[in-house]
Amino acid sequence: EPGITLKKNARRVQVIAHRGAAGLAPENTLAAVKKGLETQADFIEIDVHQSKDGEVVVIHDPTVDRTTNGTGRVADLTLAELKKLDAGIKLDSAFAGERIPTLAQVLRAVKGKKKLLIELKKGEEDYYPGLEEKTIQLIRENRAEEWCVLQSFYDPILDRIWKADFVIPTQKLIVGKIPFLPVFIDHELKFGGFDRYSEATAINVHRHFASKAFITSLHNQGFKTFIWTEDDPKNIQKLFQMGADGVMTNHPELIKRQ
Ligand code: G3P
Ligand code: CA
Repeated sequence: EPGITLKKNARRVQVIAHRGAAGLAPENTLAAVKKGLETQADFIEIDVHQSKDGEVVVIHDPTVDRTTNGTGRVADLTLAELKKLDAGIKLDSAFAGERIPTLAQVLRAVKGKKKLLIELKKGEEDYYPGLEEKTIQLIRENRAEEWCVLQSFYDPILDRIWKADFVIPTQKLIVGKIPFLPVFIDHELKFGGFDRYSEATAINVHRHFASKAFITSLHNQGFKTFIWTEDDPKNIQKLFQMGADGVMTNHPELIKRQ
């Protein structure tokens, strides 16, 4: 058995299906979201960018090059242009015809069956004007406030969410913290302290930097932590034993619950 089983009476931890469930279908497609929904994961995680005409679309990179049969920046393509691209064929011809979904489509697919962890990205060169407000608006329109959580690496994005008149859990993504240093390393190799994230409910750490001591220190500062991204079930078990509140994985089907 390659997987693990979480015990019924154990501390309740969160399993987060990464990029839909990228181990089971092309990342960030409706096919991946549907696969994720079939597992026992608690959350589906997706990444969002903004099209040229201001639509919130679900894709990881700021360009379409890696995951689709097209080229160019998401910010330079309209939704109609993005929708012409094949987001499945590069992984497996069995998924040919998969499209880049909109956030609205994913919200309608998830529909509260699980929680949805939405990661707000920035463009290749700059932030997307209004991405935070549009994401919030879509959550409102879909009455999804109770089952959505927002996360980002980027402070200007988090600050805009915190300034909006909207109550939703937010999580700050970091790479990690070098042991013995009082500061963490940011995604863009900036260094900082945790004080400015008092409005965040969690600080999400790269798996290489997860340790019992670091997780305990985050808990003592009032933060939960979801560790990204681990696919080996034995290591996932270890992260939960260290005290992780959740683990993001491309293979949520390997984690069962008693
Ligand atoms: O969700 C956390 C993790 O997804 C951040 O890394 O690059 O997979 O979006 P990335
Ligand atoms: Ca992500």
